[in-house]
Amino acid sequence: MKATCKAHLFVLILITSFRAEAIAPEAVFGESGMVATRSALASQVGADILAKGGNAIDAAVATGFALAVTYPSAGNLAGGGFMVIRLADGTIIANDHRERAPLAATRNMYLDKDGNVVPELSTHSHLAVGVPGTVDGLLDVLEKYGTMSRREVLAPATLLARRGFPIDLDMARDLEAQLPRMSKYPASMAIFSHDGKPWKRGDVLRQKDLAATLERIRAKGRDGFYKGQTAELLVAEMQAGGGLIAQQDLDEYQSVWREPVTGTYRDHQIISMPPPSSGGVLLIQLLNMLEPYDLKAMGFGSADAVHHMVEAERRAYADRAEHLGDPDFFPVPITKLIDKNYALARFADFAPDKSSRSTDIRPGSFPAESPDTTHASFIDKAGNAVAYTTTLNLSYGSKIVASGTGMLLNNEMDDFSAKPDTPNAYGLLGREANAIQPRKRMLSSMTPTIVAKDGKVVLVTGSPGGSTIITTTLQVIVNVIDHGMDLSAAVASPRFHHQWQPDAIIFEKNGLSPDTVKVLNQRGHQGLTPWAYGRGIGDANSVMVLPEGFAGMADPRNPGAALAP
Ligand code: DON
Repeated sequence: MKATCKAHLFVLILITSFRAEAIAPEAVFGESGMVATRSALASQVGADILAKGGNAIDAAVATGFALAVTYPSAGNLAGGGFMVIRLADGTIIANDHRERAPLAATRNMYLDKDGNVVPELSTHSHLAVGVPGTVDGLLDVLEKYGTMSRREVLAPATLLARRGFPIDLDMARDLEAQLPRMSKYPASMAIFSHDGKPWKRGDVLRQKDLAATLERIRAKGRDGFYKGQTAELLVAEMQAGGGLIAQQDLDEYQSVWREPVTGTYRDHQIISMPPPSSGGVLLIQLLNMLEPYDLKAMGFGSADAVHHMVEAERRAYADRAEHLGDPDFFPVPITKLIDKNYALARFADFAPDKSSRSTDIRPGSFPAESPDTTHASFIDKAGNAVAYTTTLNLSYGSKIVASGTGMLLNNEMDDFSAKPDTPNAYGLLGREANAIQPRKRMLSSMTPTIVAKDGKVVLVTGSPGGSTIITTTLQVIVNVIDHGMDLSAAVASPRFHHQWQPDAIIFEKNGLSPDTVKVLNQRGHQGLTPWAYGRGIGDANSVMVLPEGFAGMADPRNPGAALAP
């Protein structure tokens, strides 16, 4: 079992991290706001909106739509995401536009007659697609907190889709790697290949069907996606390919406004995404477990600091498997999990000089309570801040374009637990809390987060990377608060990750010194594995508030840009 979990995690590493060479890290400074995303073109859209007088919410929505065009491996119309917002007056809100299971979904839909998980059914088939939430969510956010019209914020994305943009080396390589999987879907090949051959760097990618879909959304709002031509094409694609999404699913879909999950860490306020993401809860739980310890004195990258963080991660991810799921369907004990006393009790068996075994770590137990992947960061001159993480799940989602729409469909259904204690693509385990049910949202790890201090925003951050999202976000925050790093160093510094099962620490190449690895091994840590593939763990495009203005940092592991208006 352990070997299988590990295999899954490392397959994922291969899928998501085959990228071009790194560029020297450097934060960008601006006086009137900041946008940091994985796509320079999308960052430009956001910065232009700020320059025109839009607020951070206008910029986030315009950029969200632009990412669907310029970064199609994760940006999307037919996927889902989470947006955490802190308005300049201190109001905090979160928009959950996570996908839901279709009405026709069933608990055992990915199992064969012997009860085994059928490989790839939940990742690479029409059955992998959850009911998309992005369009409803982004439009809802714009309507409630934006200042610009739908037509204005959708204009840049529509133009980019219609006129096209030159494919860079990173995208050319990425698309070439996808072709074997896409080749059975003619509508996908028609866009993401050049007559069946890989696109080359410098070729112009024009997406006219996607432009028409965006135009329908511009003209009709939500109905331009969930009704009429777009909806009909999406449902026809499902019917032709054996998927489950029907018109009723689209009619019923609604994004949900949720109260962000909050905690404190060394006088800072942490504001993050509540369930159906596990991200915010785990982040706060991890910070609570670490707060009593002096990570600064231990030093960045020291065996001591890594040991403390890994032991906290082991315990928090065990809780995730048992207790986290869609709170509208399962009583997630949120308040208990983020309680500082719970963290103290959970960490009581921690030994400073000895690793625990994941097989000995059981999820914490307490009475149930009553029912309760690209990241972009934004801030405007007034101090409105937005942390936005959006995804199709795996790179390019299911790889299926709904014929005639230009939209890649997500494969988010794999984030459900298809079978108890059986790993998904990220090696994550789940049980009843995250079992499949019609209308239920699948558990996520996305952790869009805002850190504030003394009533003012300090940092906006988050990351893609499946299970590693939470630990990446944790490390950026610890780097800033404990290790006193500036934004460049906090984002660029090497990362490591542990997720309870498999019982292994993965770390970026050259991220842990040989002495550190030696000490960790002596303490009993297992499976220390350098991350030898591509560009590393996570992609934490972040912004930070400085006394003089704003710093922005696109994670140097991947292309992208931080841009000021
Ligand atoms: O929601 C989640 O946790 C995953 N579907 C996120 C996927 C992801 O981060 C892919 N990026 N590498």
